Amino acid sequence: MAGASERTFSGRSALVVGGSRGLGRAVALALAAEGARVLATGRNAAALAELRMIARARGVRIRTLRSDARVRGRVREAFRRAASTVGGPDLLVHAVGDYWAGPLSRLTGERWEALARSNVTSAIHSIQEALPRMRRRRYGRILLFGVAGGESPRAAHHAHAYRAAKIALLVLARSIAQEEAPNGITVNMILPGVIGPGGRARGNAPLATRIPGRRLGSPREVTRAALFLLAQESGYITGSTLTLSGGLLL
Ligand SMILES: NC(=O)c1ccc[n+]([C@@H]2O[C@H](COP(=O)([O-])OP(=O)(O)OC[C@H]3O[C@@H](n4cnc5c(N)ncnc54)[C@H](OP(=O)(O)O)[C@@H]3O)[C@@H](O)[C@H]2O)c1
Repeated sequence: MAGASERTFSGRSALVVGGSRGLGRAVALALAAEGARVLATGRNAAALAELRMIARARGVRIRTLRSDARVRGRVREAFRRAASTVGGPDLLVHAVGDYWAGPLSRLTGERWEALARSNVTSAIHSIQEALPRMRRRRYGRILLFGVAGGESPRAAHHAHAYRAAKIALLVLARSIAQEEAPNGITVNMILPGVIGPGGRARGNAPLATRIPGRRLGSPREVTRAALFLLAQESGYITGSTLTLSGGLLL
């Protein structure tokens, strides 16, 4: 961890929606290590408690809130909680995004709507809550998660609906980036390929051989990209995507 005076996010507040596990958790911990005041949300109380414990063990504090980002009222509550505990937030990270793959014949309307709610609607709720606060301060960093090669049918087999939802999010992100640029707010996306714990394939060696880089990506690599896009110095980067895929799905 860097010394307090040189930490990149000292004085910044962050809300990580979907920060209890996975990549959102990794970004929440990295932001806290770099001096940000962080509130992380998720639906599962045990995962949130584990995150608080990990943060404590690393000598940082992360506040948590149980909240379902598919429900607008719960998102509003999360932003209120952020304002009263960590402030702002100056930074919004949205890492929610259920995955589903299957033959088109099994893609029911309900399944599609659930995917869209998880990947897109929850992000819309979060951005809608974030923008008025960020506009008032004329500063904001919004980071969303898509998927590498989302527009390519070669991407994850049978994951048509998931990819379609991620592309919808990408189009939204670019439009909002353009609209909000005059307000000092950036909107960017990370497009992961296949990320595994520590970048190891964990029993999925055949998958790693299909990746030109011959391994899975690591959460650490994702957090490096996230912190870059969230930094104050990245203010001229907006509407951009950063692909982390080891050369897969370019
Ligand atoms: N990991 C990869 O290889 C990969 C590849 C391509 C794209 N992505 C994208 O990157 C993002 C992060 O992926 P990940 O692998 O870290 O996902 P993950 O392990 O499933 O974690 C998702 C996080 O979001 C939370 N969450 C899910 N639904 C939620 C809801 N309705 N309200 C609030 N929190 C919710 C989860 O906690 P609870 O379940 O407890 O709520 C968890 O903290 C996702 O958008 C995913 O689509 C990941």
